[in-house]
Amino acid sequence: MTVHSFQEHFDEKMDKDQAIEAKDWMPDDYRKTLIRQIAQHAHSEIVGMLPEGNWITRAPNLRRKAILLAKVQDEAGHGLYLYSAAESLGISRDDMMEQLHSGKQKYSSIFNYPTISWADMGAVGWLVDGAAIMNQVPLCRTSYGPYARAMVRICKEESFHQRQGYEIMLTLANGTEMQKKMAQDSLNRWWWPSLMMFGPPDADSPHTEQSMRWRIKRFTNDELRQRFVDVTVEQARILGLTIPDKDLKWNEATGHYDFGTPDWNEFYNILKGNGPCNKERLDVRRKAWEEGQWVREAALAYSDKRRQRKEKKAA
Ligand SMILES: [Fe+2]
Ligand SMILES: [Fe+2]
Repeated sequence: MTVHSFQEHFDEKMDKDQAIEAKDWMPDDYRKTLIRQIAQHAHSEIVGMLPEGNWITRAPNLRRKAILLAKVQDEAGHGLYLYSAAESLGISRDDMMEQLHSGKQKYSSIFNYPTISWADMGAVGWLVDGAAIMNQVPLCRTSYGPYARAMVRICKEESFHQRQGYEIMLTLANGTEMQKKMAQDSLNRWWWPSLMMFGPPDADSPHTEQSMRWRIKRFTNDELRQRFVDVTVEQARILGLTIPDKDLKWNEATGHYDFGTPDWNEFYNILKGNGPCNKERLDVRRKAWEEGQWVREAALAYSDKRRQRKEKKAA
């Protein structure tokens, strides 16, 4: 087969909405885009464990502690599926770690904000995992098979994450005056960063068009952001909390909520590494990698020993 016919085969699969698998030929840029996106997604899962892991020892009771522990552990699992999916594209786990630590590969900027009260565990689950679901449900049908299959399980778990967060908010919102205030303060701080999770406006999103054509992306950033706002406004109403946006208004003509513009300067500034927790998050990850070195070495030595024993037996 010539390269041309490989391309034709790929295009045909795209046209028929069929999955591309690891063994299939794919254009270099498609592979690169997927590696960038899946690695960034995997990094987000494990860096995302940090702001919540921060509250495990301080959960208000045993039930909350068990739930939060399970949730944070899920995120580690998500990281694992996603690193494996990225590896199927020909990048090694060590490479991805190296690029995370050097800042070459990114993780979601949302995790560069601090979690300063217990209510933040509610707001993060409700809003951050909620926004993640909006982003991720369409990825269950993304064109790269291993990524799409990983997302099916991840989305089921994300929906539990969103509910556990919402339940914390519901409890606080119906609690004492102080608890309600704590919930509102948390919503005030997490609302705008959550909207930024969908990425820059479509007009400023350089990868969107190609990614849509490759069916890596199914909806644009602005479409998903709108969907998130429409759903979340109703949920805030049930909580009796106020979304901190004076421009938020139902639009009869469009059938959607109009809303204000996030502070994109803040977004780009955090992306550049200047957020409140960028340095802290990367330092913790680097330290964990260094301190885990002996575990990786021990695991390798053990599997080596087992292999040698097996070979001896076979001989
Ligand atoms: Fe996750
Ligand atoms: Fe989650």
